[in-house]
Amino acid sequence: MSEIIEIHGGKPLSGEVFVSGAKNAALPIMLASLLTGEEVVLRNVPNLTDVHLSIHLLEHFGSTVELSRNTLRIQTPRLVATEASYSLVKALRASFWVLGPLLARGGAARVALPGGDVIGARPVDIHLEALAQMGADINVKHGVVMASAPQGLRPAEIDFRFPSVGATHQVLMAAARTPGRTVIRGAAREPEVIALAEFLVAIGAEIEGAGQSTIVVHGKESLHGCDFHLIGDRIEAATYILAVIATRGTARIRGFDPVHLGAFLDLISQMGVKVRNEADGITIIDSSSLHPVDASTGPFPDFATDIQALLMAATTVIDGKSSISEQVFEGRFSHVSELARMGAQISVEGRTAHITGVPKLSGAFVEARDIRAGAALCIAGLAAEGLTQIAEPQHLRRGYADLEQKLRALGARVGKKVTDAEDFMFSGC
Ligand code: UD1
Repeated sequence: MSEIIEIHGGKPLSGEVFVSGAKNAALPIMLASLLTGEEVVLRNVPNLTDVHLSIHLLEHFGSTVELSRNTLRIQTPRLVATEASYSLVKALRASFWVLGPLLARGGAARVALPGGDVIGARPVDIHLEALAQMGADINVKHGVVMASAPQGLRPAEIDFRFPSVGATHQVLMAAARTPGRTVIRGAAREPEVIALAEFLVAIGAEIEGAGQSTIVVHGKESLHGCDFHLIGDRIEAATYILAVIATRGTARIRGFDPVHLGAFLDLISQMGVKVRNEADGITIIDSSSLHPVDASTGPFPDFATDIQALLMAATTVIDGKSSISEQVFEGRFSHVSELARMGAQISVEGRTAHITGVPKLSGAFVEARDIRAGAALCIAGLAAEGLTQIAEPQHLRRGYADLEQKLRALGARVGKKVTDAEDFMFSGC
């Protein structure tokens, strides 16, 4: 049996929706809980497949984990394992970040290389060079990173060649439990990095500069428990914002800090969308008259790569020529062919997609190939005439809690259908 999401589009969205806690803050913070033997309580945790996979990973390392509604209680009195297999890391790329906490607390780790995926090659050289500078002895053999630091890691001054989010998380976690002063230059500045740093401070580390390019960590011999509230999910917020814009609606999207949207807020005002920033979200006052836009992704505060596919879906129905350049991940255009099946006019030259807006998309059977590509198809389906069926919705379940309920709160006609495999294959051809 397979599940598909069905959307009857063509209706302007309106109303109010609350986003969940940020998936990309929850994942590193859950891994960082391994740095202490005391209990960590996390609130506003989103109910997502990726969170469940992370719970499974923590249990593998000896944590007891209790999830009740949106509150997670994690305690790891001692590490009972030091390895993460390929099947664990493949299911959840962020699992690779466990290398830093395992090394810092246990002095040894064997973690499978995550490998590339549909959006790009995704190497981990920046992670490994940084941990080596902190004194880890690292060998990569047969697709597994074997790292050890029997005398413990040592503080270091590290320069990143690119502000990798994952590598910044990795070093922040390792440095928090490495006594002394570690400096990261060229660090990622994403809100999720600030969230992780705030968590590490809450468990006892001293950190200055999170959110800036240079971060200084004063690590401690031991860390303690805490009670911590996760930030709202800015990418989920951008998804609902663009769904409202694509349908020419008006709505209030709440539960997040608008500052976390970075350059995306400027882009939507260039597109002619009238918004009001609020303390806990934004209100889209008018999206009836829209202009095309030129956008290029980059590290925060530039336009986020995770919003690229979502913006593209909205521009397919904006009169005129838009262009969107993907500068973070080289292969992040899997949504283009599916949007084209709905009538979108997009041509890709190298890392840039050129979009010529059409008056209407038409609903079609399409396939989600990754989280954001799937969300882009939802946006397109909401704007399209007729029925859109989205196959492989498990990708969406990784990043969107209560997707159908939240879209229905905005007046969308959306549901899910369980089909047998033959129907599914036939419709998918
Ligand atoms: C995180 C996010 C992802 C987001 C991305 C960029 C999570 C779970 N994932 O992914 O949603 O799209 O940040 O904002 O939070 N790179 C290297 N060497 C390295 C590390 C990265 O070359 O050692 C390259 C990558 O291939 C990519 C770029 O740097 O081209 C950005 O990657 P990075 O910032 O590390 O992204 P992730 O942490 O994997």
